[in-house]
Amino acid sequence: MATTVKTRQAYRRTDDYTPGTPKSRKNLPAELEPTAVLIKIHAVALNYRDANIANGGNPWPVTKNGVPGNDAAGEVIAVGDKVSLVKIGDRVAPITDAEFATTRSTAANEDGTLATHFVFNERLVTKLPDHLSWAMSSITPCAGTTAWSALKAHLSVKLFSSKIFVVDSCCLPSVEGTGGVSTFALKLARASGLKVILNSSSEEKLSTIKAQLGKPDILTVNYKTNPDWQNEVLRLTNGVGVDLVVENGGSSSLVQSMQCTRRGGTVSQVGNLGGPKAEELKEFVSTIIDRRLSVRGINAGSKDDQDELMAAISATQMTFDDIIDSVWSFDKAEEAIEYVWQGKQVGKVVIEIKE
Ligand SMILES: NC(=O)c1ccc[n+]([C@@H]2O[C@H](COP(=O)([O-])OP(=O)(O)OC[C@H]3O[C@@H](n4cnc5c(N)ncnc54)[C@H](OP(=O)(O)O)[C@@H]3O)[C@@H](O)[C@H]2O)c1
Repeated sequence: MATTVKTRQAYRRTDDYTPGTPKSRKNLPAELEPTAVLIKIHAVALNYRDANIANGGNPWPVTKNGVPGNDAAGEVIAVGDKVSLVKIGDRVAPITDAEFATTRSTAANEDGTLATHFVFNERLVTKLPDHLSWAMSSITPCAGTTAWSALKAHLSVKLFSSKIFVVDSCCLPSVEGTGGVSTFALKLARASGLKVILNSSSEEKLSTIKAQLGKPDILTVNYKTNPDWQNEVLRLTNGVGVDLVVENGGSSSLVQSMQCTRRGGTVSQVGNLGGPKAEELKEFVSTIIDRRLSVRGINAGSKDDQDELMAAISATQMTFDDIIDSVWSFDKAEEAIEYVWQGKQVGKVVIEIKE
């Protein structure tokens, strides 16, 4: 099918991330491939990766002058001749993992989503819940699907059923952070009736998120003022430990997370914010054996995972205003990325694209 929109505007990284020439125009394909869909993007949520890539910290290959972003929400405005999974007018979001399970898509070695339009294969998008705004929709693919995958064993049945889930010592500490994945996990866990322990470096951020989310109160631990925070988590769970940890720090905090997970519990390893610190992993083997733990690597999720998340959000009519820190205009993308790099946000930073 021929497209009526001929060009798009994209935000491109400068080589060494010095400010300037942040946007460029690029021609879109005049004819779409048979299974391709052209999406008009309305909102892009930033992730830590975007700031990390922009500042040279990404451990995977990076395309020179690439377009940031792997989260987006938009509307299908043209489809290829053989497209059958979506139609013009559908509200969609791309998935993060193109091979559904093993490799990264919209990664640093290809152009991302921070643009007015994007062409995707129809298999790589999921339909969005109708009740979500564009900004709320944009935070679901990466942070949302990652949080869903990290919690899945504890959540999916409960969110899909109308059963009330009763918890005794079942808590979820979202280790180190009030960022995107953590706050999304917090929302999903609470929607399932789970008690949550939130771990942050900042009392101010903890107060903000407590005020935003209201009752029931979240239990909190400050890992900066309390270097042995795992003991505080154990104290809050009567010495038992939590059922599951969403682990964002990596080797700098993994063993501590394991030490406050209950015997037979799960640590979902999501992030590596503390950087590689092998010396901090000395007690890994003894702790995993002693506590009979499962430590799972999380890499976003499959298309099925993302579809399940969307279904759960629709079923519960969850909204995410309370975990959107701020919404920025497209021409402020550079400032927004810097804001994320400085870790000022509580929850998600979103860029609205009105062009
Ligand atoms: N595996 C996957 O599929 C996947 C998907 C998405 C993200 N990630 C990774 O998960 C991590 C979090 O991503 P995000 O997008 O949620 O980040 P984010 O929104 O930027 O939030 C990060 C938060 O973590 C805390 N933090 C900062 N530096 C830290 C450090 N050195 N050690 C521990 N905590 C630190 C801060 O919260 P406080 O100030 O409250 O402490 C910060 O606001 C990153 O490592 C990211 O690359 C992985």
